[in-house]
Amino acid sequence: MKVIIKKDYEELSLEAAIFVKQKILEKPNLVLGLATGSTPLGTYQKLIEMHQKEGLDFSGITTFNLDEYVGLAASHPQSYHYYMWENLFNHINTKKENVFIPKGAVKDLKEYCHFYENQIKKRGGIDLQILGIGRDGHIGFNEPGSAFNSRTRVISLDPVTVQDNSRFFNSISEVPRKALTMGLATIMEAREILFLANGEHKAEIVARALEGSITTKVPASILQKHPCVTVILDQEAAMQITI
Ligand code: GLP
Repeated sequence: MKVIIKKDYEELSLEAAIFVKQKILEKPNLVLGLATGSTPLGTYQKLIEMHQKEGLDFSGITTFNLDEYVGLAASHPQSYHYYMWENLFNHINTKKENVFIPKGAVKDLKEYCHFYENQIKKRGGIDLQILGIGRDGHIGFNEPGSAFNSRTRVISLDPVTVQDNSRFFNSISEVPRKALTMGLATIMEAREILFLANGEHKAEIVARALEGSITTKVPASILQKHPCVTVILDQEAAMQITI
């Protein structure tokens, strides 16, 4: 595990964007796994700038998002579909047919989960997966207790996650209680992982995930077993690690 500590969120975002850019330059048909939440927003902004100012070309890449709320249509402003188009895809030249985001409003969710897994396989698997972390240690929406061999499925959200994510909704009652998420095994199959965290509120869980025991109580701790992880933290999120 390679750990890079940057001064602040701005520098973290630039470092992460340069990392992704390098991978795209090395492999123009990169299969890129994407995350939502506030953490990668700065990285996406930098990637947009690289596209607009330097002509960074996204036309060959395929993307797979980690998760989506169950019951929210793609047009819902709090859906991860909306987030991804608003914060990235509307501003770069990724081809629409190469963008995959789990659909949370389909009738047969179970069948859809199989379909999603199959699409990842058909595209040759994920080359680089970007991850953030929830305060309860979740990656994607793999909440504490998620099995290490789990695959894309429906999950009930932990009260901590519902509380944390309520800041994006008008009230906590509007936050969906279920989500679709790639599983921990799906994430671990990515050939490379880019793990990002910023802020003091992430310091404790980052230390438990990166240096604590590997346990389903902290789903992100499974990343310690992945052969190719780059961690980029700001100083605040790195406060409790010893690496
Ligand atoms: C969300 C997403 C995760 C994200 C995490 C942290 O609920 N499902 O993919 O990494 O929680 O969010 P934030 O970056 O806003 O702290």
